[in-house]
Amino acid sequence: MTTGKFITFEGVDGAGKSTHIAAFADSLRQHGRTVITTREPGGTELGEQLRSLLLHEPMHLETEALLMFAARREHLAQVIAPALARGDWVISDRFTDATFAYQGGGRGMSLDKLTQLEQWVHGDLQPDLTLLFDVPLEVARERLQKSRDLDKFEQEQDDFFIGVRQVYLQRAAQFPQRIRVIDATRPIDAIADELQQVADSLCGE
Ligand code: TMP
Repeated sequence: MTTGKFITFEGVDGAGKSTHIAAFADSLRQHGRTVITTREPGGTELGEQLRSLLLHEPMHLETEALLMFAARREHLAQVIAPALARGDWVISDRFTDATFAYQGGGRGMSLDKLTQLEQWVHGDLQPDLTLLFDVPLEVARERLQKSRDLDKFEQEQDDFFIGVRQVYLQRAAQFPQRIRVIDATRPIDAIADELQQVADSLCGE
């Protein structure tokens, strides 16, 4: 029996990662894998309720981090862990790297505290692979200008975005075996080709 893999997509708002998730999942399915796609914050009924609070209500930065991890705890228990135990593949649009990047790099919460929460919630489970969609601030801004209803995070100032990106890139340097940086300034087709190669190599081609 093949064992499932846990793959996460990450990046600053406007990096374009969500566009590629469905196609990436389909590539894995064409290789015969059973794949579920999900997202954070969210992925469960409770998690989606927490998501709407997190994306729209102002709150203390530690409350924000705790609610991100609360939603994640539920997501792990209800969706991610059972799917992996069945041997399915799980693709999540964001996971804990986002908390380090946004609540740590963006808001300035202590990375040590975030590491403690990570240990508590999923010390023994990390993604097998993280695809980090990287774009500089100007590209992210230009893409976000095209969307109408910006959430709380998307409305943040430049220094917030810069802090988020910086922590993402630091983590990519810290965990090079797990995190693959995708140059997301390139045209969509070029990124899709790279992701197809990633899917093929994950499935042993
Ligand atoms: P999305 O726009 O990619 O769906 O993500 C929702 C927003 O939530 C995005 O701006 C990043 C933010 N976020 C955090 O701040 N911390 C987290 O842990 C996660 C998962 C998302």
